[in-house]
Amino acid sequence: MPAVVVIGGQWGDEGKGRIVDLIAQGASVVARYSAGNNAGHTVINDMGEFKLNLVPAGIFYRDKVCIVGNGVAIDPAPLLREIETLASRGVSVDNLSVSDRCHVVMPWHPLIDVADEKLRGDAAIGTTGRGVGPAFTDKVARIGIRAGDLVDPDAFRARLEFVLPYKNAVLEKLYGIPPLDFDDVHATYAALGARLRPFVRDTAQIVHDALDRGETVLLEGAQGCLLDLDAGTYEYVTSSVPSSSAGGAGIGIGIGPTVIQQVVGIYKAYMTRVGNGPMPSELLDETGKILQIEGPRPEIGVNTGRPRRTGWFDAVASRYSAMVNGVTSGVLTRLDVLDNFPSIKICTAYETEDGRTLTTLPASSVVMGKVKPVYEEVPGWRAPTNRCRSWDDLPEAARDYIRRIEALIRTPIDIVSVGPERDQAIIVHDVLKVRPRP
Ligand code: GDP
Ligand code: IMO
Ligand code: MG
Repeated sequence: MPAVVVIGGQWGDEGKGRIVDLIAQGASVVARYSAGNNAGHTVINDMGEFKLNLVPAGIFYRDKVCIVGNGVAIDPAPLLREIETLASRGVSVDNLSVSDRCHVVMPWHPLIDVADEKLRGDAAIGTTGRGVGPAFTDKVARIGIRAGDLVDPDAFRARLEFVLPYKNAVLEKLYGIPPLDFDDVHATYAALGARLRPFVRDTAQIVHDALDRGETVLLEGAQGCLLDLDAGTYEYVTSSVPSSSAGGAGIGIGIGPTVIQQVVGIYKAYMTRVGNGPMPSELLDETGKILQIEGPRPEIGVNTGRPRRTGWFDAVASRYSAMVNGVTSGVLTRLDVLDNFPSIKICTAYETEDGRTLTTLPASSVVMGKVKPVYEEVPGWRAPTNRCRSWDDLPEAARDYIRRIEALIRTPIDIVSVGPERDQAIIVHDVLKVRPRP
């Protein structure tokens, strides 16, 4: 069986955690491959409601091996809190492993994250302030500290002796922030490293052993394609390296691209975005407000508690993300949120200031920030969908809406999610079964 990647097709929060929790049943390994605790994945199942930041959403199955891959940046204290909270709620963490190659979010990273945002002024990204961007910046600058270093007392001391004076100079001279004390940082992080040590190992080997046994490995993405450093709405993106796109999955786990045969793209039935940056179909009116508060789970950021910006489904951006990720199976979530609208709009093109019609995503955020959405209006269904469990249960207008999205993004919708709970889904096709790219 293959490696299957799950990515967010929009600006994050599409329901990746909820869908991984559902489809992990058919896999034996679930591995996170990028980002850090800027991600917030909600899972609601028979064990309760959980917010995951770093632990893969396969953790609720006792028999699944869960991996935090080398592409993830881990902040040790929040990771340990997350592990301990799960354990205290009866979720087994016995099969959880953290890659020894993960980069570590150190105390200077959130300081720099917040200070950078201040320096950017009006051009602030609206980051989560978790220090994840600066941690990946240090990875690329070759001054990062990795999990393998953190859990090895000699290696950690040596690495910190090199890195901290360097970072203190940056904190003081560039940002005017008081330097961090070596002994404090060393004592705190060496202790965290000791607690994390039982989880840290060579995770790529675990994945390869599973693949050699013919098992299915699920690679869980974070964020969404439109927040991707390369593919997204630069510079209003996140700084994960490898990227959150499907192309980053192999790198972030330690497998080659030939092993990945299936890419599952998660899309909301409309758009949301947290933080700044262009969003052509954003609704700043009453309709946007309804999208924000309608349904059982309002659109509030998991980590920062910020209300998410909302808008109609953007088929231009979603088709682009399906294309650049090679999505083979689509999943549409939060369909139930649209249940009460008499009619629904879909953005099918952008109109530029000088009157041109775009059907592909412009590279420039400045251009994208000025385009006007071109809408197609379709009838709503005005009926509850949250109890639908088969394609035929769905109202006809809802089926037409899904069919239209499939055609516009050129991707089959294989799962329709009609509620946040595990069983509130319509499975049209098994997304773990390899499908050719349409
Ligand atoms: P992720 O970051 O992609 O895992 O998504 P988040 O957990 O940040 O945000 C998705 C939100 O939508 C969470 O509150 C989920 O509980 C909720 N959710 C997921 N699927 C559905 C659905 O089909 N209907 C509704 N109403 N809520 C859903
Ligand atoms: P999940 O995995 C939604 C956004 C932030 C900000 C930008 C950069 O839950 O879908 P960062 O802190 O990463 O440097 O912030 O990216 N962002 C997310 N938005 N969902 C996420 O993750 C996000 N992770 C980062 O709001 O606009
Ligand atoms: Mg989220």
